[in-house]
Amino acid sequence: MKIAVVGATGLVGSKMLRVMEEYGLTDVELLPAASERSVGKEVEFAGRKHRVVSVPDAIEAAPDYAIFSAGGGTSLKYAPSFAEKGCTVVDNSSAWRLEKDVPLVVPEINIDTVKASDRIIANPNCSTIQMVMALAPIHQAFGIKRLVIATYQSVSGSGIKGLQQMDNEEKGIESPVMAYHYPIHHNVIPHGGEFDEQGYTTEEVKLVNETRKILGDPDIRITATVVRVPVSGGHSEAVNVETRKPFELAQVRDLLNRMPGVMVVDDPARHLYPMPLYAYEKNEVFVGRIRRDESVENGMNLWIVSDNIRKGAATNAVQIICKLIEKRK
Ligand code: A2P
Repeated sequence: MKIAVVGATGLVGSKMLRVMEEYGLTDVELLPAASERSVGKEVEFAGRKHRVVSVPDAIEAAPDYAIFSAGGGTSLKYAPSFAEKGCTVVDNSSAWRLEKDVPLVVPEINIDTVKASDRIIANPNCSTIQMVMALAPIHQAFGIKRLVIATYQSVSGSGIKGLQQMDNEEKGIESPVMAYHYPIHHNVIPHGGEFDEQGYTTEEVKLVNETRKILGDPDIRITATVVRVPVSGGHSEAVNVETRKPFELAQVRDLLNRMPGVMVVDDPARHLYPMPLYAYEKNEVFVGRIRRDESVENGMNLWIVSDNIRKGAATNAVQIICKLIEKRK
């Protein structure tokens, strides 16, 4: 089996190689691809070095699967060419996520939406993935009516550039690369992506649309504020949930405990709650601070934390490929 990783030299792409190793997806011919700048460089995978190739060369090799994490423009330009060769593309950019015929997949929730004929599958936005992992069982049991979300997103969500800017600012060096309009060290920036006419950012709109698509319910009312915080790895989210049916908190805890890939960390008396420092390099989604919102009839508050580069990107994509390989055997 041949697997191409497009963007293999980037933050998410290189993590994909590590996650493929961890998931035992090593008995494959790897085609690491990146921009022309990186052709000829080497990446490590499964104990040996692999030469980075150009994207056209990776297409020519007609891989069985291609995982893309090289930005929306690269996905739009090249994913169809891979698909024409019969390759199944799992794309981490936002380019195809809302296309009607493209499944938007979190394997624990909706791998069944992938048809045998699908050649482009979208990996959701990092903040969406970790949130729906906690919300899917709640939605199934009680029906979610409304969500009010605030995110606390790490700089790694902006790729290597985000980490470099924060690192330079921490060291007091004027940063030659700026991922944001402002310093991020000692700061909090309420701005992710571009603003629309209503004053929402593209990252906020993604949370609304992608959540509705994955949970299969266009009627869920959703509003979000996306915030970048000076954290190197791991996104956090404060999520206020209103359900259609009444619930007991014990039922919610039980559902979350039984959801594969979710870990409940919620013991305030022992100061136990999820935090990005402890979610870093883990594949699970951590949920805590589970409490009733007394201001509405059926309301609760959740605090959801996960490593955005892992479950929010690389792990989710690799899990999709593993499930498809299993299904198509
Ligand atoms: P390169 O390293 O050659 O620039 P990050 O988000 O961490 O910055 O990573 C982006 C990834 O996408 C890198 O692997 C980068 O390759 C790759 N990439 C960026 N632009 C292109 C392009 N036009 N064609 C192919 N790969 C690209």
